[in-house]
Amino acid sequence: MLEVSDLRVAYGKIQVVWGVSLGIAEGETVAVIGANGAGKTTLMRTFAGLLRPSTGRILFRGREIGGMPPHEIARHGLALVPEGRELFPHMSVSENLLLGARLCPGRQRATENLEWVYELFPVLRDRRRQSASTLSGGEQQMLAIARALMASPSLLLLDEPSTGLSPLIVGSIFDVIARLRERGGTTLLVEQNVHLALAVAHRAYVLERGRVTLEGPGRELMANPLVREAYLGIAGGVPPSGAAGR
Ligand SMILES: Nc1ncnc2c1ncn2[C@@H]1O[C@H](COP(=O)(O)OP(=O)(O)O)[C@@H](O)[C@H]1O
Ligand SMILES: [Mg+2]
Repeated sequence: MLEVSDLRVAYGKIQVVWGVSLGIAEGETVAVIGANGAGKTTLMRTFAGLLRPSTGRILFRGREIGGMPPHEIARHGLALVPEGRELFPHMSVSENLLLGARLCPGRQRATENLEWVYELFPVLRDRRRQSASTLSGGEQQMLAIARALMASPSLLLLDEPSTGLSPLIVGSIFDVIARLRERGGTTLLVEQNVHLALAVAHRAYVLERGRVTLEGPGRELMANPLVREAYLGIAGGVPPSGAAGR
């Protein structure tokens, strides 16, 4: 579905992605984990066409998309749910959803998708006439995901869907990610909530300062001592600094 090789991305002279290679097969849920500033959002924005790679290949369903404009990449079936959600705040929930369907082939499909996203997120049906700006943070995140799904994307990119949300809401968002996985959807998930991300992902990549340093099945990475120490806060026999009272 997506094959990325030796991708480099820079902001002006500042290079932040240093030769990343990764792949996502159809039907896979893949996570990218990494500290703040590792380059996760930069990667996602590059896949969606919002940033231009300096070198490397991004093959999406066999087609080179690196440097293509965002609307064209979206038309080929890639949907990004950005970190900042980017809803239309003064439009209602249902209007936001129908705007998401503008790439969807045919009216019938749009109606089916609307039913389906309301079933995935029942709260959005209850609030369909409310303007998006009146939703809670969690509901806005749900709306952003639902809007992306309205286009029937073949690859869904989620950039930190759990950021800033309460554990209860985070749980329901991850339930939806698991349902998409069961349904055979293809998802690339960027998360700081490493525990949940590795649990839901078939495979994951660890990104450090713009480079992939580890990759493997989610459960395998969860058992990896480096991941446990650096990302899950489980010190492998070494007491956390400060515990001894510096
Ligand atoms: N618009 C920008 N201009 C210059 N540097 C940027 C810009 N956006 C991000 N960066 C830098 O690129 C690096 C990676 O950022 P980002 O991709 O947002 O990381 P992450 O999503 O993993 O937290 C950081 O060092 C960040 O400061
Ligand atoms: Mg980010």
